[in-house]
Amino acid sequence: MRPENAGSGGRADSELLTSAWNGLSSWLPAGSGLEWAALLSRAADDALVSVRHGQQGDWAALLKILPTADAPCWGIEDGRVAVEAPGLSDSDRSRVADALMRLRPWRKGPFQIAGTFIDSEWRSDWKWDRIAGCTDWRHRRVLDVGCGNGYFGWRMLAAGAESVLGLEPFLLYVVQHAAVRRLADPAAPHAVVPLTDGCLQTCPGIFDPVVSMGVLYHRTGPVDHLLLLRNALKPGGVLILETLIIDDPEPRVLVPQDRYARMRNVWFIPSVPMLTRWLQRTGFRDVEVVDITPTTVQEQRSTDWMTFESLADCLSPHDPSRTVEGWPAPLRAVVRAVRPPTGSPREML
Ligand SMILES: C[S@@+](CC[C@H](N)C(=O)[O-])C[C@H]1O[C@@H](n2cnc3c(N)ncnc32)[C@H](O)[C@@H]1O
Repeated sequence: MRPENAGSGGRADSELLTSAWNGLSSWLPAGSGLEWAALLSRAADDALVSVRHGQQGDWAALLKILPTADAPCWGIEDGRVAVEAPGLSDSDRSRVADALMRLRPWRKGPFQIAGTFIDSEWRSDWKWDRIAGCTDWRHRRVLDVGCGNGYFGWRMLAAGAESVLGLEPFLLYVVQHAAVRRLADPAAPHAVVPLTDGCLQTCPGIFDPVVSMGVLYHRTGPVDHLLLLRNALKPGGVLILETLIIDDPEPRVLVPQDRYARMRNVWFIPSVPMLTRWLQRTGFRDVEVVDITPTTVQEQRSTDWMTFESLADCLSPHDPSRTVEGWPAPLRAVVRAVRPPTGSPREML
């Protein structure tokens, strides 16, 4: 492991993040893929400047504390993304633990980094177990839309994916990914860029699979989200979609009057027949429900690494099958669908 970066100041600070996507051109296909890589890198660089989160400087300073791996030193252990960070003294390890703690809240995980267990809010390993069998990940170029800190991307790489590109507009999660990547493998073909699904407007169909988990119900235009996902898929490629649903045999959709489980930004929660209709109308075929699971307070909970309120605080104290607002408690579906080998989605966008 190499010690922390000595450089400081604006450009050196942003390079701690941009290095994750500077290598994109080496994993995207020649021609339209490379053109899009250039567009994407520029948009991601611009987003760092325009987002200007108040804590950006603190986060850059924390990233600099972390040593850089000379060679890949990570794997999966008991559902955790485990980073060994060899050659560190006890005091180095405690500095790493302190820096990671200051990058809270860790919502997705778990991770085990240089001896520190990051017990994230979500047992994302349980969700991974539900989606792992949706495709053969080997040699795949994956797009993960709304990827959080990239926990799932490491699982996909460990399952054999060739590369993983994650889109994540919330800058702290991009920073968390940069921290893990620096410690685990700074050359990993795994980038998280600070962009939304909007950047897929110009994306050629080059990814398979495209993954979107926990994003659809946050979008004011869920159908447009599906069209963008389809646009990014290779013809014949697989979409893996995970979303909140309502338990209703009819094609219905819940639009919460105000908040849902204390969240302001939940718009459309479809039943499975309605979700299937949306997928078919946006040109997907072979729609298959892979899993339906209620979210439990064991899967999503407050921990030392995410100390804010969590699911238990959002369910009715009188009836845990309802949210505090009286809506049905969270129920999630994993759905698999295929972009047909022929036809273009562009005319629908
Ligand atoms: C509920 S979390 C799900 C994270 C992860 N995919 C999972 O399933 O555990 C939704 C994530 O999507 C991100 N997000 C919100 N709007 C988005 C958009 N328009 N495009 C891409 N990501 C978005 C949020 O910042 C957040 O990290």
